[in-house]
Amino acid sequence: MAEQLIVGTHDGVARLVLNQPHKLNAISFEMWQGIADALADFARDDAVRVVVVEGAPGDKPAFSAGADISQFADKRGDSDAIARYNRAVKAGEQALIDIAKPTIAKIHGYCVGGGLAVALCCDLRIASEDSRFGIPAAKLGLGYGLDALQPLVDLVGPSTAKEILFTAKRFTAAEALIMGLINRCVPSVQLDALVDDYTSTIAGNAPLTIKAAKQIIAQTLRDEATRDVALCTKLVDDCYTSGDYTEGRTAFMEKRKPVFGRG
Ligand code: COA
Repeated sequence: MAEQLIVGTHDGVARLVLNQPHKLNAISFEMWQGIADALADFARDDAVRVVVVEGAPGDKPAFSAGADISQFADKRGDSDAIARYNRAVKAGEQALIDIAKPTIAKIHGYCVGGGLAVALCCDLRIASEDSRFGIPAAKLGLGYGLDALQPLVDLVGPSTAKEILFTAKRFTAAEALIMGLINRCVPSVQLDALVDDYTSTIAGNAPLTIKAAKQIIAQTLRDEATRDVALCTKLVDDCYTSGDYTEGRTAFMEKRKPVFGRG
């Protein structure tokens, strides 16, 4: 298990590497389970300011080619196994959605099926130009439920979501950018530098402001009647009563870079 999912933290940036390069970083049942555990560790670690999810390098570049199909007969065969498997997928995806820290999917190569679902659960998607995107469920007879489709529809809207699902086609990074599926698209030689630039920028910004933005934006996607307005108010209050608010305005007046995250 340890080698199928590599985790590490450096300079405020936590990395979660999907590591089955011989299977284009397909995600095994055990990896789905491990994603939730890794995210829980990152959430607890105050040193972590931003999380990057990526695929391990291999002969063919891949973020991930989706769930590991070679396990389906064994681990997704009958209805009990399907329910168990789907619970593990949901737990991994929900952990990515729920973590209060910003997450970036760094995408190089195939980003397909469950791999794309993982990327969709991240806050930002930064991809190389040679990446390919798709949801081949209609080629495999898989069903995508409400939970699985909501992040896609929230991101690209119902019509583009239907185009992706009905055709089960593979789309280029340029097409994904136009669809709104990814935030940025750069030549592959520039991918590391752009992601590093984003992570160092985000890690240097005020964490409580980012936490509030992430959670309040999630609330805007809910029906108005179910929004937690009190939580939103508290998140904003936490910003104004924090040392970071003092530090931000003091640093501006003193014409220096602010140092955030000290309370
Ligand atoms: N699960 C398990 N193994 C996978 C996999 C997956 N989701 N995706 C790729 N692999 C394996 C292949 O079986 C192959 O293994 P092999 O070398 O032992 O034969 C290896 O990864 C390389 O894949 P290959 O198909 O040869 O690469 P390609 O460049 O020709 O095609 C894809 C790439 C992504 C188009 C193709 O692998 C594919 O369609 N994968 C399945 C994607 C999918 O349906 N995912 C949905 C699951 S949710």
